[in-house]
Amino acid sequence: MANIYLAVGTVTCTASAVARSCADLLRNAGHDVTVDEQASVAALNAAQADAVLIVTATTGKGDIPNNLLNFYVELETESPLQNGRPFGVISLGDSSYSMTFCQAGALMEERFLGLQGAQPIPRITIDAIETQIPDDDALFWLKEWMEALF
Ligand SMILES: Cc1cc2nc3c(=O)[nH]c(=O)nc-3n(C[C@H](O)[C@H](O)[C@H](O)COP(=O)(O)O)c2cc1C
Repeated sequence: MANIYLAVGTVTCTASAVARSCADLLRNAGHDVTVDEQASVAALNAAQADAVLIVTATTGKGDIPNNLLNFYVELETESPLQNGRPFGVISLGDSSYSMTFCQAGALMEERFLGLQGAQPIPRITIDAIETQIPDDDALFWLKEWMEALF
């Protein structure tokens, strides 16, 4: 059993719903999950997580949603080294924003890699144009992530 800190970035709650589905799957597999829609480095530290999962939409012109932005900034200013702690990124976007498709997920990935997080499998991008049910793709990816981790 592992402790997983699940940070969510959302504007219109699609990513929240995906995060809830992910949390259900993880809990059914016996893990403890903290779902945080106002993620912070302090909360990450308090969770004493074995792994970090990020589920985020992209907003604006390739921007991180406001409710995850503080975490992103704190990760830079506080530089909490991850020392090989595994992380994963589920990135929701829309490929009609061709220049910034799923950029928020890419930014979070870059930050965790820069802090020496370990990425067992590549980030998934989920395109709103291609899929009506993002949960299905996310859960398929999550099973691979769990297999790679535990
Ligand atoms: C105002 C606005 C700006 C967006 N900008 C981007 C973008 O730059 N890149 C991208 O891949 N998707 C973009 N999207 C698409 C969203 O990321 C996508 O629809 C996502 O599923 C929304 O998730 P949410 O409901 O959790 O906010 C944008 C959507 C809106 C409404």
